[in-house]
Amino acid sequence: MDANMWHRHARAQQPAPPEKLSLIDLRALSSAERDAHLGALRDWLAASQFPTADARRVAATMWNVVTTNANSGPGAKTIVAVNAPNTIGKSTAVRAWAHQAYRQWIGQRINDARLPSWSPEPGVHAHEVPVAWINLQSAARIRDFNAQILTYFGYPTDGPIRSLSTRIAGAIGRHRVRVLVVDDVHLLDTRFKDGREVLDHLKHVNTELGERGATMVLIGANLHDSPILADPQIAGRLQALEMAPFAVDTLEDKRAWQEFLVDVEQQLLPYLPAATDGLLAKTHVSRIWRRTQGFVGDVSALLRGAVDAAAVDGTWTLHPSHLDGIALSQRATFQEQSLLRGRRPGSGAPKSRDSQ
Ligand SMILES: Nc1ncnc2c1ncn2[C@@H]1O[C@H](COP(=O)(O)OP(=O)(O)O)[C@@H](O)[C@H]1O
Ligand SMILES: [Mg+2]
Repeated sequence: MDANMWHRHARAQQPAPPEKLSLIDLRALSSAERDAHLGALRDWLAASQFPTADARRVAATMWNVVTTNANSGPGAKTIVAVNAPNTIGKSTAVRAWAHQAYRQWIGQRINDARLPSWSPEPGVHAHEVPVAWINLQSAARIRDFNAQILTYFGYPTDGPIRSLSTRIAGAIGRHRVRVLVVDDVHLLDTRFKDGREVLDHLKHVNTELGERGATMVLIGANLHDSPILADPQIAGRLQALEMAPFAVDTLEDKRAWQEFLVDVEQQLLPYLPAATDGLLAKTHVSRIWRRTQGFVGDVSALLRGAVDAAAVDGTWTLHPSHLDGIALSQRATFQEQSLLRGRRPGSGAPKSRDSQ
């Protein structure tokens, strides 16, 4: 990822939703028209995101912290840490907020294919890069971390680590950075003797950001077990945001799960004219949970696949076979098998089969 790619992604138009056609309309389509409709439906499904309460909470907290950090005096600022198991939708939720924030910050200049510029001092022009986003790689060390940030701004990455750090500090101001997002921060290698230095380096970068009113956002899996959250100086200025899969343990859990599926229905049912209200939130509620265990990534893969299958075979509603026929992640498949064997995922306790 670099600033140009980020700008392109933030500019990209979502595919237009397909036409809302009745069953009669659909059956009257020529085969070319039908292919075009299926193509439009598929493109739109692939790009569409389902609204979740967790994603709304992430966005609200991000605005809150980023605004407070921007308006408080210089110095190290509150860090946001978004923590959740993999494939919950952490990156998707933060990216959706960050695209929105980026578009707001650069305003009309989003219409220009080139990166926006500004003038840090009279006679000097620099790209304006309010959002910097890096995806860490496995076992990343300080040098890799620095190199990814510098690459994002298009800077060289050679030289001693200390001079890379100085370059980063300069880049933050020169490019008017407001947010630095470090995705998959659990991949930072903190195990070895230089683990302490990695943590110190994160704090140093946060201080450099803070001097300019900017915010560091860490996204990671299972951060509770990571020395990053255990570091007292980081923990002391951390706003932690947890995201969790939907559950069905309590009445409240079930209500939240159904409310989510009602929202998803509102998005999808206009394109399934043979379906009736309650298709997901009532008729298939248990099956969708059994297949996905409430992981939004799997729910979205399942429903994209099932809607597509129901469009291709001309059913235009979802039957159990559509939902059972979609291959999901290994995690979901494994946990579904243990549910079908009458066990709760991750527990040895047998569970009666009809309780789900
Ligand atoms: N709200 C959502 N609606 C639809 N699909 C989603 C949503 N959130 C995540 N996904 C999909 O789920 C998958 C995993 O999401 P991702 O953000 O990469 O998870 P994480 O960062 O937690 O590992 C991706 O394919 C993403 O497109
Ligand atoms: Mg991710």
